[in-house]
Amino acid sequence: MVGDLLKFAVESAGENLTELRALDLGAGNGIMGDVLKHHGMSRAVGADIIPEARDAAYRDRPHVYDEYYVSDFTNLQPSDHEQLAEWAFNCLTCVAALGFGDIPAQAFLQAAQLVQPGGWVAFNIKETFLDASDQSGFSRLIRELIFSEYLDLHQLQRYRHRLGMDGSPLFYFALVAKKTADIPVEFLEQHGLSGL
Ligand SMILES: C[S@@+](CC[C@H](N)C(=O)[O-])C[C@H]1O[C@@H](n2cnc3c(N)ncnc32)[C@H](O)[C@@H]1O
Repeated sequence: MVGDLLKFAVESAGENLTELRALDLGAGNGIMGDVLKHHGMSRAVGADIIPEARDAAYRDRPHVYDEYYVSDFTNLQPSDHEQLAEWAFNCLTCVAALGFGDIPAQAFLQAAQLVQPGGWVAFNIKETFLDASDQSGFSRLIRELIFSEYLDLHQLQRYRHRLGMDGSPLFYFALVAKKTADIPVEFLEQHGLSGL
């Protein structure tokens, strides 16, 4: 869903996926990377905090990522930051990884800072994160970021992500936005995050 929505957004904007260089944060064993390459993306770089994820991606989908970094994006080492910045990413994807104690907001925002202004940001979140009654810090940050001047929302799609253990459907939103500008330190500090 996220890959298809990204393709639709990029093509609707008159751009071409073959010109994108994507950072896939929380890449795991490469399911999203596979989709990106299938859609013709020119470069895809995976990143995950655990080496087992990189090993699994190389085992299961050896031709998907042009590079794979094992890094904690809440605490990116200067040498990794330098190398990642050299990719001059114009796309960030983060699938099935935001919220639920998985990828923290700080890591996601760090990755977003590595995307050039004008680049694409595509991710999914559980539907309740966009509900104003959810006042958790993560939920408020995501809502404020989506509707901030730093992102231009292009696509928002509610869909059945999967079935719960009891068989009931779980709904998520897939989002595709364009980054308009780097997120300033003040925005991060308002949400209790340090500058990146
Ligand atoms: C639920 S998995 C999603 C994997 C993949 N995107 C998919 O859709 O199959 C979330 C991934 O985020 C990674 N992760 C969690 N915290 C992270 C961090 N601080 N920096 C980088 N990756 C992180 C985990 O190791 C895990 O592989």
